[in-house]
Amino acid sequence: MYVYEPADDSWMLANELKKRKCRRFLDMGCGSGVQANSIGRADEIVCADVNPDAVETAKNNVKTGNARFVVSNLFDNITGRFDLIAFNTPYLDDADPRDMAWTHIQNGEDVIEKFILQAKNHITKDGKILLLISDRNYDGYKLFAMGQGYNWKIIAEKPLFFETLYVVELSVQ
Ligand SMILES: C[S@@+](CC[C@H](N)C(=O)[O-])C[C@H]1O[C@@H](n2cnc3c(N)ncnc32)[C@H](O)[C@@H]1O
Repeated sequence: MYVYEPADDSWMLANELKKRKCRRFLDMGCGSGVQANSIGRADEIVCADVNPDAVETAKNNVKTGNARFVVSNLFDNITGRFDLIAFNTPYLDDADPRDMAWTHIQNGEDVIEKFILQAKNHITKDGKILLLISDRNYDGYKLFAMGQGYNWKIIAEKPLFFETLYVVELSVQ
């Protein structure tokens, strides 16, 4: 299955991660492993992706010795809580529904909403989530997250020719 090649969105999220230090870091939807390679410092890293080929690619690319690699549909195979979770989401809504690298509609469900719903059960008390999304349904996700009790803070914004990208920090404290 196609493994996402790092693009503008990847580098934008990576740029925020390189400033951060934490104990347990989850790179959700790890793709090539670019985010795990970007975190400033983490004692323990878990790289997860629904695509087994992405997990294999990340295994080859991630340089630190403290990373584990898991094939998982969102949190299905993830245990424990993390101080920091990052997800560069598959935010397109007009991609082939079989292509999980790009599309957020999977089996009739919105994977970004599902992630928002589940992620708060996988962060520590002061844990943070960095979400890369675009302006497609931005207001809908914001409303949904706030309805789930999250604080919503834009920490980076990048207007491109055809869309605007955001890195949003979510927390529940
Ligand atoms: C836009 S790519 C980002 C890849 C990489 N993290 C980066 O920043 O370049 C989205 C990634 O999320 C993964 N993904 C999509 N749906 C998923 C799901 N339900 N559970 C876990 N990972 C998923 C895709 O396979 C893909 O690797």
